[in-house]
Formats: sequence, C-alpha cells, structure tokens
Amino acid sequence: MGNTALITGASSGIGTELARYHASKGGDVVLVARRENKLNDLKAELERTCGITATVIAADLAESDAAENWIIPFLPRKLVLKISRKAMEKK
Ligand SMILES: NC(=O)c1ccc[n+]([C@@H]2O[C@H](COP(=O)([O-])OP(=O)(O)OC[C@H]3O[C@@H](n4cnc5c(N)ncnc54)[C@H](OP(=O)(O)O)[C@@H]3O)[C@@H](O)[C@H]2O)c1
Repeated sequence: MGNTALITGASSGIGTELARYHASKGGDVVLVARRENKLNDLKAELERTCGITATVIAADLAESDAAENWIIPFLPRKLVLKISRKAMEKK
C-alpha cells in the first residue's frame, strides 16, 4: 500500500469526511468502524468516484485486543517499533 490512511470512525461524521478528503487526493483508505453496511457503502462510493482502493474492517475498537488485531497489522513497521520503544521508556 502506498499513500494509505487508516481511518477509525469512518462510518459517519468526521471519519467519513476525512476518508472522502483523503480519497479525493488519490490516497487509499482503510475504513474502520462497527457498522459494516455503512463502511461498504462508503467503500463503493470512494472507489467509484475517486478511483482509489478502500479496505473495510468491521471491528469494535472497544474490545481489549482490537488494536492488536485490527490496527497494528496496518501500521508501517517503523511506526510500530517507535511506539514499542516509547512504551518501554515509560516503564
Ligand atoms: N462533530 C463535531 O463537531 C466534533 C467536534 C469536536 C470533537 N468531536 C469528537 O470527534 C469524534 C467523532 O465525532 P463525530 O461527530 O464524527 O461522531 P459520530 O458521527 O458519532 O462518529 C463516531 C464514529 O465512531 C465509530 N465508533 C464508535 N464507537 C466505536 C467502537 N466501539 N468501535 C469502532 N468504531 C466506533 C462510529 O461507527 P460505528 O457506530 O459504525 O462503530 C462512527 O463511525 C467524537 O469523539 C466527538 O466527540 C466532534
């Protein structure tokens, strides 16, 4: 993936508008929220109107293992390492 934005809360409000903005600039998007039907509607809209690739992840981010399962796999490796080092410094 190149210029890809992972957007949580993409099924409504600010998240939907951020996804539209990023896609309008030609960036791919990973759309995360619980309401899969809303995310699929947005995916179809953005792929049709902007010619980008949208990936849908229907997930409840309030679950304790949500970041590990749904967010971290999409982050660039360098960023994950940075987060890990910061976390260790605080201990
Ligand atoms: N609107 C404003 O003017 C404004 C101003 C300042 C700050 N804020 C803050 O910005 C945030 C977003 O505002 P908004 O107006 O865009 O709200 P919104 O329309 O209610 O959107 C919230 C988004 O978060 C998702 N979400 C909620 N709980 C989730 C969970 N457990 N797991 C995964 N996704 C979850 C919802 O999707 P699903 O229900 O599909 O999961 C939805 O896409 C809020 O924290 C709000 O307080 C908003």
